[in-house]
Amino acid sequence: MPVITEIEDLRRIYKRRVPKMFFDYTESGSWTEQTFRENSSDFDKIYLRQRVAIDMEGRKTASQMIGQNVSMPVALAPVGLTGMQHFDGEIKAARAAEKFGVPYSLSTMSICSIEDVAENTSKPFWMQVYTLKDDDFMQRLFDRAKDAKCSAAIITVDLQLLGQRHKDVKNGLSAPPKLTPASVANMMTKVQWGLGMLQTKRRFFGNIVGHAKGVKDPSSLSSWTAQAFDQSLNWDRIREFRKMWDGPLIIKGIMDPRDALEALNVGADAIIVSNHGGRQLDGALSSIRALAPIMDAVGDKIEVHLDSGIRSGQDVLKALAMGAKGTYIGRAYVYGLGANGEQGVTDALNVIHKELEVSMGLCGRTDVNALDRDILMIPKGFSGDWEE
Ligand code: GLV
Repeated sequence: MPVITEIEDLRRIYKRRVPKMFFDYTESGSWTEQTFRENSSDFDKIYLRQRVAIDMEGRKTASQMIGQNVSMPVALAPVGLTGMQHFDGEIKAARAAEKFGVPYSLSTMSICSIEDVAENTSKPFWMQVYTLKDDDFMQRLFDRAKDAKCSAAIITVDLQLLGQRHKDVKNGLSAPPKLTPASVANMMTKVQWGLGMLQTKRRFFGNIVGHAKGVKDPSSLSSWTAQAFDQSLNWDRIREFRKMWDGPLIIKGIMDPRDALEALNVGADAIIVSNHGGRQLDGALSSIRALAPIMDAVGDKIEVHLDSGIRSGQDVLKALAMGAKGTYIGRAYVYGLGANGEQGVTDALNVIHKELEVSMGLCGRTDVNALDRDILMIPKGFSGDWEE
């Protein structure tokens, strides 16, 4: 493996090693991908304030997310189909996270099941759940998470309908992959990936197949969402989910202060400011722009986390300095996983950690728990000066 110094190194190797269909799934936003792009490029518009001749010794990144100790406040976000990026991908990513001391969140749309991950790891992970119509499936999912000793549930509230990602439609994305002349020709060039996949039986959506009733074709996110997801979702329904799960609860997909207040009223322990990595409402603000008004509305009442767009420790630093108590990386660790399995995820975490820790020092700060907006130069109007 070449020397890895930045997340982009992992992305380049990932692109070479993993079939196009799964690379495209990761590297897509919905429709024009404006929000997907701006999630990252908006971080670049915020500057860090360099300070000098301030004691930078003893820098500390250890913190807590929802009361749980973390070696840095960066969790692995739930990502669908992770086990298609590398064989047994969810297990590998969860292992890297537990060794690093950061939370791993398992997507409902994972290839390895809740039970697979629990059996192959030793620390509790977090379980992400979608909002489905089928009450039995929902209750079972929460019960399975409880039996697996998951230490939090994340309810994703921004996927009642699926935002279209053009490449997935064109590639006929599914798990296991449909064998077309084009997909077979492409997969044959990804030798390591293929040899890995031959070693595992885990090639289907492990949490759905055999668990969800009446789902005729559970091989793709689009057919499953169309059949099973609850388009009539409202906050009362989310309150019912709160009753199904009595552990720590995180609500993911909040972009507006009014929704943040609703999530607070449901009794969540944290909210995640997220636009689903730019994969749902194209044209929505980047999550870093959406953060400040949400902090102002609920920041003193509930823990606020941020997801979408983070590709570096500097991005993490900016989100924390704006008030987020925790952050998530999705694509940044999937690049590592596709590039080099568990070691690649560890590489991604190491890169982010080092960037965070050194940049924090160069801003004259030594503790991630004591950051504030003073280390940032945020352009006027960054979070909006909109027409009423
Ligand atoms: C699933 O949540 C996805 O965005 O693909």
